[in-house]
Amino acid sequence: MIENEGSSEKRIVTIFDDIYNLPDCRDYFRAMYGAGFRTAHHAANAFRGVRDDLARTRDLESLNILDFASGYGIAAALMRHDLTLDDVLERYRDPEFDAATPGEVMARDREWYAAHRRAGNNDRFVGIDIADLALRYGVEAGVFDAAYAENLQAADPGEELRAWLAECDLVVECGSVAHMLPDALDRVLGAAAGRRPWVITAPIRGNDTAAAIKVMHDHGLLVEVLDMPPFRHRRFADAQEQARAIANAQARGHVTDGVESTGYFHAQLYLGRPEDEATAPRGRRVIPGSG
Ligand SMILES: C[S@@+](CC[C@H](N)C(=O)[O-])C[C@H]1O[C@@H](n2cnc3c(N)ncnc32)[C@H](O)[C@@H]1O
Repeated sequence: MIENEGSSEKRIVTIFDDIYNLPDCRDYFRAMYGAGFRTAHHAANAFRGVRDDLARTRDLESLNILDFASGYGIAAALMRHDLTLDDVLERYRDPEFDAATPGEVMARDREWYAAHRRAGNNDRFVGIDIADLALRYGVEAGVFDAAYAENLQAADPGEELRAWLAECDLVVECGSVAHMLPDALDRVLGAAAGRRPWVITAPIRGNDTAAAIKVMHDHGLLVEVLDMPPFRHRRFADAQEQARAIANAQARGHVTDGVESTGYFHAQLYLGRPEDEATAPRGRRVIPGSG
């Protein structure tokens, strides 16, 4: 889970690194269950609303949606299916998954997801991540239509990904990484410039979002903080992590009593839209310097 500040030059150190890229999603979602992971629930609810706004604004029947730094694809999974985060997190607690092979998990998940496809939704979902195995799981399970294991923070997209990005309508991101990867965001928005995708992302309170907001601004997006209270991301691993998070959040002007003091990282949602399409405000405030 990427919650700690890190410069784009340094590898971002996380406590869940070893479960980001396994042949199936079991260990990741079991760990997320244990960590009290909630971001995807709040984020996906908002993503669905923003998706519908965008479809109305542009009169689109179906959208091309990029789940950026998708991992196993929880954001796409919750947008595409009539399932809750709890459904997903509780699924892998069933002991029947203990002895299953990755192939069996994928086959069961493919069937499960197919039985819960959201009626009338024909959106196409693509994942980008550096975790190639996680992406393969997502494609095999039917969460993604396609996926690209490319590190856009380090290099330009390959030809196939570039062609897909040229048709991208909406970029969604949860798990708190987009703001850590401003060069990747810049490459995504550059390749998608003709289509002017909206971007919705869920940074942790206290993390430095300035570079990512500047990237969105440079691509002509007006960025708003969505009008909802900060929500739980996951439980702090220990008192030191909590103290750091409180100091970071306070340094950026947040009141942490009743929020991070409760023992959880908290996140919020930023929405970037082209200025001419941001006529009906969704946010409680526009980020200065954007738009
Ligand atoms: C906290 S996880 C979130 C995964 C997923 N969005 C979720 O909420 O379950 C962060 C993800 O960022 C990915 N990541 C790290 N560096 C990346 C990069 N340069 N490009 C794309 N993804 C990256 C990791 O592999 C990992 O899957």
